[in-house]
Amino acid sequence: MTTSVDLLEDPTAGEALADSTSDASLTRSVARSAQIHADLDVHPERYRMLTGDRPTGHLHLGHYFGSLANRVVLQDKGIDTFVLIADYQVITDRDEVSSIQERVFSLLTDYLSIGIDPTRTTIFTHSQIPALNQLMLPFLSLVTDSELRRNPTVKAEQEATGGRPMSGLMLTYPVHQAADILFCKANVVPVGKDQLPHLEQTRVVARRFDERYGRAGDKSAPVFPAPDALLSDVPNLLGTDGQKMSKSKGNTIELRMSADDTAKVLRKAVTDSDRRITYDPVGRPEVSNLVQLAALTTGRDPHTIAEEIGDGGSGTLKKLVTESVNEYFAPIRARRAELEADQGHLRDVLADGNARANAVAEATLAEVREAMQMVYG
Ligand code: TRP
Repeated sequence: MTTSVDLLEDPTAGEALADSTSDASLTRSVARSAQIHADLDVHPERYRMLTGDRPTGHLHLGHYFGSLANRVVLQDKGIDTFVLIADYQVITDRDEVSSIQERVFSLLTDYLSIGIDPTRTTIFTHSQIPALNQLMLPFLSLVTDSELRRNPTVKAEQEATGGRPMSGLMLTYPVHQAADILFCKANVVPVGKDQLPHLEQTRVVARRFDERYGRAGDKSAPVFPAPDALLSDVPNLLGTDGQKMSKSKGNTIELRMSADDTAKVLRKAVTDSDRRITYDPVGRPEVSNLVQLAALTTGRDPHTIAEEIGDGGSGTLKKLVTESVNEYFAPIRARRAELEADQGHLRDVLADGNARANAVAEATLAEVREAMQMVYG
């Protein structure tokens, strides 16, 4: 065993994270991500993907077009897929967990209704995977207090709590997230840019684990592969008021909404006073967002859609968007209603996913114990 790696002497300690949000680092991540995207079609068998969501609210169209639809595409390419319902992560910034069970099942219902197939994709909740959580302990030995404090996403989330003291979990949740990713040795993680610092932290943990405890320095067989982010190029959808889409602002269209409620929300959507419809996301964000939504739900080009509406004004635009959104989501919503009526099936799906994740986590933990020379049987 090598014990020579001292965190405080690691020249990259901290730097890696501070660097993960720099322009150069972002450019690297984007380039690497494009490379992987191209390779996924050729060699899907080389990849294991893990991603997840906090069960904090019902999924909306921003989630769907921003990440969920892409997961189904990746799953359907034959990539081994893990989807995590990050229930423990919910308590990083709130005390309240009373509705967690309902939220977990709602999220699961959303997943299944959009086409995540539980026979091919392992869907699990991390509170039910003891061996995954146990990885956090050795991983914590591999990170420093100062690099955790520098994590820009943690800082932003902490600020958003409005004066709540930083909890130990908030500070260390990126390490927990490293355990989420590394327990199954995922090598690709589809995430938004805000998650890049966590990905970088995960890469640092993977590398340091091998340096400190790894298989006697055998670099050809690291215990943990360093995962890459898979960034999507889907444009960010705004809420119906033109602001960032967020449940608390009441500006979202949720997957589970009825066609009538969708129509109501869209009728109230903010537009502007220019009658002629154009697609100009920078100059006319509200109108363009609606055009974009029509484009995403019809698979057509937003400029063409805007031209066709022309002087028809926002009334015509809203009518078109309402129709196309409702048409696109009708089968998903129908499936969702069926799934919701069969809670027993939902429980079975989650129990099965948890059992599969547990088997993987236990195998990884056994390797970790072996590498750390903590096997006594
Ligand atoms: N932090 C992610 C979010 O807030 C959720 C998450 C938890 C996650 N563990 C993960 C995402 C592992 C990717 C990989 O959205």
